[in-house]
Amino acid sequence: MSDNLSRTEGGADILSHTEAGVDILIHTEGGVKTLTLNRVEKKNSLTAAMYTQLSEAVEQAAADTAVRALVFQGHETVFCAGNDIADFLNHPPASQDAPVFRFLRAVSTFPKPMLAAVCGPAVGIGTTLLLHCDLVYAGDNAAFAMPFVNLGLVPEAASSLLVPRLMGYHRAAEALLLGEPFMAEAALEVGLVNRVVPPSEANSLAQRQAAKLAAKPLASLIETKRLMKQGQAAQVAQAMADEAQVFARMLAGPAAREAFSAFMDKRRPDFSKL
Ligand code: COA
Repeated sequence: MSDNLSRTEGGADILSHTEAGVDILIHTEGGVKTLTLNRVEKKNSLTAAMYTQLSEAVEQAAADTAVRALVFQGHETVFCAGNDIADFLNHPPASQDAPVFRFLRAVSTFPKPMLAAVCGPAVGIGTTLLLHCDLVYAGDNAAFAMPFVNLGLVPEAASSLLVPRLMGYHRAAEALLLGEPFMAEAALEVGLVNRVVPPSEANSLAQRQAAKLAAKPLASLIETKRLMKQGQAAQVAQAMADEAQVFARMLAGPAAREAFSAFMDKRRPDFSKL
């Protein structure tokens, strides 16, 4: 087990459980595996090491017959600020095997019910991950954003395909070209989230719904999810592969360099010559 990975099988209640220095908490109980992003001081931004841990956990959940549902959750104040920008600069994902792309493949092909509880900022992959979840519960403080263009990048996680499909082209253009954030109620309206509740209730609601799913016949859940998704599965895989190629190229480009150094220097980026 890696140093900053926690596995608690049964027993302790993850919802009241925090551990300083453990970036991802993993807890399995009653057939529900819960992955808690626990790097609140950095707004739950994700490093390459965290992507690897998450990928392993998701892949194991897919293979483990004792796991019947998977839940992603963060903190009441923040779900996920996307990729850790400093880590991205130091460890840019150069190929399709990079940890971020492995994680995206794992979640986009996860065969069992996958849920998320989202409070506070959900930026970049914090939002695009939700496109692959079956049920999403949001705190009324949730703020979604896909600012890839503002970072000199392009969408990932098949969001270039799935966001226009979900919300229509023009609203997708607002979200993906302008990179404009949208709040929980707007996410509910477009169907990105199932229900909006007070932030203190989001994680427990997701847990209750996951427990309901875990009590159902697993083979029926798996086949039903597969049937619902099979029409677009190949397109999603193709979009993710295409995006990953462009994303990796743009990440090394001058606009991303400028955006990322501006973030690190806490200044506005200057794209006037790019
Ligand atoms: N990568 C690395 N560090 C990040 C981060 C990220 N994506 N998001 C936040 N942090 C760090 C900040 O640098 C800051 O670190 P410091 O305390 O050492 O200065 C700390 O987390 C707190 O962030 P801060 O910006 O002060 O919090 P906030 O509440 O004002 O804003 C966000 C929260 C999420 C809106 C804001 O942090 C943000 O926009 N982050 C970047 C999101 C992004 O562009 N992600 C990439 C998507 S591909």
